[in-house]
Amino acid sequence: MKAVVYNEFGGPEVLHVAEVDKPVPGPGQVLLAVRRAGVNPLDYKFRSGEFQIHSPRPLPATPGLEAAGVIEAVGPDMHGFAVGDEVLGWPLTGSYAQYALASLLIAKPATLDWDRAAALPVVGETALRVLALLGLRSGETLLIHGATGATGAIATQLAVAQGVTVIGTGSATNSDYIASLGATPTTYGEGLVERVRALAPNGIDAVLDAVGHGTLPDSIELRGGTERIVTIADPPAAAALGVTFSAGNVQDSDLPELAKLAEQVANGQITIALSRTFALADAAAAHELVESGHPGGKILIDPN
Ligand SMILES: NC(=O)c1ccc[n+]([C@@H]2O[C@H](COP(=O)([O-])OP(=O)(O)OC[C@H]3O[C@@H](n4cnc5c(N)ncnc54)[C@H](OP(=O)(O)O)[C@@H]3O)[C@@H](O)[C@H]2O)c1
Repeated sequence: MKAVVYNEFGGPEVLHVAEVDKPVPGPGQVLLAVRRAGVNPLDYKFRSGEFQIHSPRPLPATPGLEAAGVIEAVGPDMHGFAVGDEVLGWPLTGSYAQYALASLLIAKPATLDWDRAAALPVVGETALRVLALLGLRSGETLLIHGATGATGAIATQLAVAQGVTVIGTGSATNSDYIASLGATPTTYGEGLVERVRALAPNGIDAVLDAVGHGTLPDSIELRGGTERIVTIADPPAAAALGVTFSAGNVQDSDLPELAKLAEQVANGQITIALSRTFALADAAAAHELVESGHPGGKILIDPN
């Protein structure tokens, strides 16, 4: 089968297409014929080697933490799925490939297209996890750094649906998009604390940092302490400042909530903005776009 592979850590140019063995599902696993793979910033952090300190990965490696596809084979002791089922989830092997092994899966709603199905697993699980961690109640005010990003946009919509007032940051050109998600837009950068205070004179109850870029000191100033601030993007600053960093660790027990979210995306209650779909051979260009920090929506890989 064809897969994107890198044999050394480095820039996007280390990514190349190779012919590799089709994997064989073991106990509790399925073989997934990948229809789309989602691209995440974590993929380039693994590729560059910068994440080896947090979560070491062996070489050679195939990127890709999420996929949607059709089950082609079922391993022993894997219950609840059959050959031909359309699913989405978190593969055990890299998803920038024609096939991947997986065990954490949910059924793809029939009306959910392949692009959105593959775009959902990582950001959907992350948004649900961080909102639960922040313990938001209706009527509270949440600041989301990066409401225009793939994770921030889902978190914004889920929080607004809970009756939370969201102030979301993004580029000035994305203000209308942030407003369309139900949040009050503001821009990031110099003067953020004053802009947020003007928009929320009664204060901010919680903060989600979905960008990194040194937003935590401003967040602490706005909150008056480190409580109810979660970053998903800045582990070193979180450790230095005593702020909670939340990492992905999806479990079987998370799947029902994610299946519900997939239904909400399928029926249009929650939207996912899509940017571009790349072929396997163009994985380096996909990484350059996500690494730019302004992907303009989810980036996908079509391996076929
Ligand atoms: N820990 C976890 O479980 C977890 C899970 C998922 C993602 N993440 C991390 O979360 C971060 C976001 O990922 P994503 O896929 O949601 O993002 P994304 O779709 O790549 O979006 C990037 C976001 O960053 C904003 N941005 C760019 N430059 C900025 C700057 N200088 N200052 C402030 N904001 C800036 C962009 O705003 P504009 O485009 O409007 O300029 C956009 O909202 C990444 O670091 C990723 O690795 C962590």
